Parts: sequence; C-alpha cells; structure tokens
Amino acid sequence: MTVEQNTQAPVSAEQRVREEELVARVLASFDGTPNRRLKEIMHAAVRHLHAFMREVRLTEEEWKQGIDFLTAIGHITDDRRQEFILLSDTLGVSMQTIAINNEAYADATEATVFGPFFVDNSPEIGQGGDLAADVSGQPCWIEGTVRDTEGRPVPGARIEVWEADEDGFYDVQYDDDRTAGRAHLFSADDGSYRFWGSTPVPYPIPHDGPVGRMLEATGRSPLRAAHVHFMVSAPGFRTLVTHIFVRGDELLDSDSVFGVKESLVKDFEEQPAGTPTPDGRDLGDRTWSRTRFDIVLAPADV
Ligand code: BEZ
Ligand code: FE
Repeated sequence: MTVEQNTQAPVSAEQRVREEELVARVLASFDGTPNRRLKEIMHAAVRHLHAFMREVRLTEEEWKQGIDFLTAIGHITDDRRQEFILLSDTLGVSMQTIAINNEAYADATEATVFGPFFVDNSPEIGQGGDLAADVSGQPCWIEGTVRDTEGRPVPGARIEVWEADEDGFYDVQYDDDRTAGRAHLFSADDGSYRFWGSTPVPYPIPHDGPVGRMLEATGRSPLRAAHVHFMVSAPGFRTLVTHIFVRGDELLDSDSVFGVKESLVKDFEEQPAGTPTPDGRDLGDRTWSRTRFDIVLAPADV
C-alpha cells in the first residue's frame, strides 16, 4: 500500500456543482427500489461514499489501489479464512455493529467482537472440567454465575468458551484436526459455573494478507489484548457474545479490533506453585491463575 499525500487544490464552484449533480443522479437511480430499507441503505451508502471521495479528492491511482486491495481481500477469502470480516474488525465496523445492536440494558454484561475462531459442536465439559487439557499454557480457574438483570440465577445457560494456546493459536489453526481450547458447559441450578482453561496471552490476528499489509502501512499492530471468548445463551435471553480481558495487559488500549470494554477487564490472580486449587486438583510444581466472571443476561426482547 503506497498512498502518497494528495495536494488538495481548491474546488471551483462549477466543479462542485458537477460533482453534486453526479451524486444526485446516482441517488435518483435508486428511487424506484421497492424495498424501503434497501433504498435507505443504498441512498446513505452513495451519499457517504461520494462525500468520502470528494473530501479526500481521491486520485485515479488511489481508486485503482482501493480496487486492488478489495480484490486481494476477495482472493484470500475462502471457507476457512474471512478477510472481509477481518477488514471490518480492524476498521472498528464490527464493534460499531455490535454497539448499535446491543444497546446497554440495565447491568447486563457488555458484548464484544465474535472473531473468526468459534466452531460449532464443541465438546461438553462438566462443572470444573478442563477445556485446556490439550493446550499449552498456564492453567487458569475461571468461575462465576449467570444471572438475569433482576439478580435471579439463570440455570442451564449454555456457556461456550474458546481461547488461543500460549503461542497464540486456536485449534483451527493447527495442522491436525484436533479440538483443543474450546468447550461448552451449562450453568448449575444456582446459576454458577466453573472450569479450568488456560491463562490468556496476547496474539496477532491473521496478518499475512491484505489486512495485515494495511495494518503495516498505517503503523498499526495486529496484536489483540489477551482474552477468553464466551458465548452465553439461554431461552428468553439475548445471546451474549463477549470476552474477558486481563487487567494490566499493556494492549488493553490498542487492541487491533477495538474489542476491549472496561467492564470486561478482570483480575487474573497469579497463584504460586503449590497453592491449593479450588477443586483439589494437583498441579505439581506448576503455577496457575484464577479469575471470576459474573455474567448478567439481558432479556431477549429489549
Ligand atoms: C479473535 O479474538 O479471535 C479475533 C477477533 C477478530 C479478528 C481476529 C481474531
Ligand atoms: Fe480471540
């Protein structure tokens, strides 16, 4: 990506009128759109796109570079890799969509970006189970409750959890078909849940493609703040897609996909080797960590 600075000459009145007339003609071409919502979206897209081009006085070379960039994104996208979503993530578009569609409700837990590494049909673990058995990393005890916004326990909520290993890779990035670092469990009658995972570490989003080149050209890091993914669902409640982050992580302010929310930053307490574990598990000479994540679900209809 080699976009040079454009010297922005002032635009004459005649030129402005010519440009505005084109915008008006393009807008009018959508006037007959039968679907009102589609018409609204097309009109707004045209208005904003032309405003952007006119603001930066887009050159023909830059237009070509933009086309090449989007073409490269299309070429690298397949069933396993979705570079368009990565672009959306790194431009904050994914988080803006989440913000618009998950308005804060009472003290319900905040949502954040879904990411590309969720897989359906994860294995089920029981309370206190270990989803990180086959994953390298420091063991981490995660516990909490699932409640509604009135403080009542939500039993039987399905809690999907997935996380990267200590080298920053999800199982779907391994060469084999192993499932690791992901599982689901159900909240108990009192809404509580607990399991072993691994202490999350920062890792880069896939950056060997056009989005990575965009980050490099703009001096941005591909690193994500360390996190554990959660998706929590229960009948009658808005499905919650979120993460927890590690207090003290230096990347909290520069997460490459803008996913961090202060309410999701948790204390991960380091436990020296030999510290008794909550479930009596013997970790030998390994250190471990523990954290608490109390989840509040919003009603489905808000
Ligand atoms: C993730 O956290 O897994 C992720 C989110 C957005 C883009 C890439 C990865
Ligand atoms: Fe992730």
